[in-house]
Amino acid sequence: MQESNYTRRRDQLTTYFDETAANAWRALTSNNPVSRVRETVRAGRDEMRTTLLDWLPPDLSGTTLLDAGCGTGSLSIDAARRGARVIAIDVAGSLVEIAEKRAAREGVLGAIEFRVGDMLAESPAEVDFVVAMDSLIHYNVNDVQAVIAGFVSRARHSVLFTSAPWTPPLAMMHFVGRLIPHRHHRAPSIEPIKVGELMATLDENHRQDGWRAARTRRIRSGFYFSQAVELTQC
Ligand SMILES: C[S@@+](CC[C@H](N)C(=O)[O-])C[C@H]1O[C@@H](n2cnc3c(N)ncnc32)[C@H](O)[C@@H]1O
Repeated sequence: MQESNYTRRRDQLTTYFDETAANAWRALTSNNPVSRVRETVRAGRDEMRTTLLDWLPPDLSGTTLLDAGCGTGSLSIDAARRGARVIAIDVAGSLVEIAEKRAAREGVLGAIEFRVGDMLAESPAEVDFVVAMDSLIHYNVNDVQAVIAGFVSRARHSVLFTSAPWTPPLAMMHFVGRLIPHRHHRAPSIEPIKVGELMATLDENHRQDGWRAARTRRIRSGFYFSQAVELTQC
């Protein structure tokens, strides 16, 4: 069988997040001191997580939430604190291990079911909410649309995700990055996406099933630049 672009990219991300970048992610997502540059990224990511959580009901008791690409579990832990039953999935087993330890320390391990594997293949058939924070930013727009279709078919209320917004300088960096031979330690490239166009396509693709692209918010903080999108049932 021919390997799809999605599985090839996912396998690269598995190696990167599970091995190459695992320690850097542990540090970035902790409260320990980091470099000035990483501090700005941390601040942007904190703002993004708060934005996504603000787009969910304040009381999540009795609901299930899929944290797709949960990494070290920050969003899962916050959602569990608000009463959700969380299914937290990531391909990087070493990050899931860190997430489990952090959830135990925060007293919410019982509310979170951690799974190592693909965010769609390992996902339950039905959940109330799906959140994919910065876990689709390395996939091309066709793969993102396909994954979102999988989320929409599982979610009862809303699907929240982030993309790296397309801007001319970012597109240029991406193009130049592709010309440079791949070095083993390099992060898989980010795929900038024209988020307005993506929202229009998602709106069109899923409107007949009662979904609409409801809101969006761009967050920039130093080297962090990401755009949140909310799809909801009309
Ligand atoms: C940039 S990190 C973000 C982690 C977390 N959502 C956060 O915001 O802290 C992206 C994560 O998505 C995970 N990931 C990427 N593709 C995935 C896939 N197809 N299935 C499950 N996890 C995936 C990576 O392993 C990585 O942990």
